Amino acid sequence: PTITFIQHDGGQHRIEAEAGQSLMQAALANLVPGILGDCGGSCSCATCHCYVEGAWAEALPEPVEEERLMLDCALHVLPSSRLACQVVLSEAMDGLMVKLPISQL
Ligand code: FES
Repeated sequence: PTITFIQHDGGQHRIEAEAGQSLMQAALANLVPGILGDCGGSCSCATCHCYVEGAWAEALPEPVEEERLMLDCALHVLPSSRLACQVVLSEAMDGLMVKLPISQL
């Protein structure tokens, strides 16, 4: 699927991700700035925090409790906040757009 990351300063990175990858893995593989993934995807660092844009926020599977608890520790959390390491990509997510918080420049 094609995914677009929008930096807090407005810069955009459009990448081709692979189904089965997490959104965080796809960002790292494509050198998207602002997604660090310090914990390697174990839902314990929140350096992969992003905002899911528009209707995608509703379309994605709900975060499980572990993700919600970790988001409680993140900065600048919004209702559309997700941890990119917990979002597993599928072809149906083609066109997904996510924004990055100001704390992840
Ligand atoms: Fe650490 Fe997502 S990579 S919480």
